[in-house]
Amino acid sequence: MILIDGKKAAAELRQELKHEVTGLKAKYNKVPGLTVILIGDLTPSQIYVRNKEKSANEVGLKSEVIKYPDSVEEKTVLEKIKELNKDETVSGILVQLPLPKHIDKQKVIETILPSKDVDGFHPTNVGNLSSGYESSVPCTPLGCYLLIKKVEPNLNGKKAVIVGRSNLNGKPMTQLLLKENCTVTITHSKTKDLKAECLEADIIVAAVGIPELVKGDWVKKDTIVIDVGINKTDKGIVGDVDFDEVSKNAKALTPVPGGVGPMTIACLLKNTIECFKRTQI
Ligand code: GUN
Repeated sequence: MILIDGKKAAAELRQELKHEVTGLKAKYNKVPGLTVILIGDLTPSQIYVRNKEKSANEVGLKSEVIKYPDSVEEKTVLEKIKELNKDETVSGILVQLPLPKHIDKQKVIETILPSKDVDGFHPTNVGNLSSGYESSVPCTPLGCYLLIKKVEPNLNGKKAVIVGRSNLNGKPMTQLLLKENCTVTITHSKTKDLKAECLEADIIVAAVGIPELVKGDWVKKDTIVIDVGINKTDKGIVGDVDFDEVSKNAKALTPVPGGVGPMTIACLLKNTIECFKRTQI
């Protein structure tokens, strides 16, 4: 079984991006900039944002974090986004989710200029991705896609089963794999026989938020399994895949942690650089 090392893949990607930033700096005499807005004091969000900032600095991006208390008014956040939209030194804007209840997530997402939407959440980018046009691609599915391609560069005709239909992962993952000529089945909590669907798959992407849902006898011998889950349980952090069981069966599997997570952040940096490049003449 191939244990897909997301940490190593992310470090390699960051190295490539660092070289690219050096080249862009020489060419344009400026570097891409990432601004992250963090609202409230949820610990996981704080950890993610700290990691994003650290990684951005490591590859040579200009990085800024703007923090607001939980009580901040929606208007203040929207005004700040509009200001950042106009700021030429800001290539990418990310508002860390989840948001406090009184702030409308959709309004926030739609206020970010599509050309600066490093998350790929703006309806313009969602539409462009599903139409096969150039767009920002959400970082987590992009990271999954790059890991799958490392194991299997030719995905032509492969059967992919996505477990979970979220806007963040399942839906964009479907688009990426369709573009690679996979036959994609998107499954979810109301799917009648999840095990039978998974048993058909050459590729499984589990992004459903149910601890250790995907079992060993759900997986064929030559299947690539990507585990997006991060679930807190009594025995610590586990994914959506039963690692011990599935590792005995699958062709390749991502661990949790150390699989998809590090790639997500590296892909955010990649998206920031792409946004920068698209705005240069
Ligand atoms: N919170 C957890 N994952 C993400 C992500 O990919 N983007 C944003 N903006 N917030 C998140």
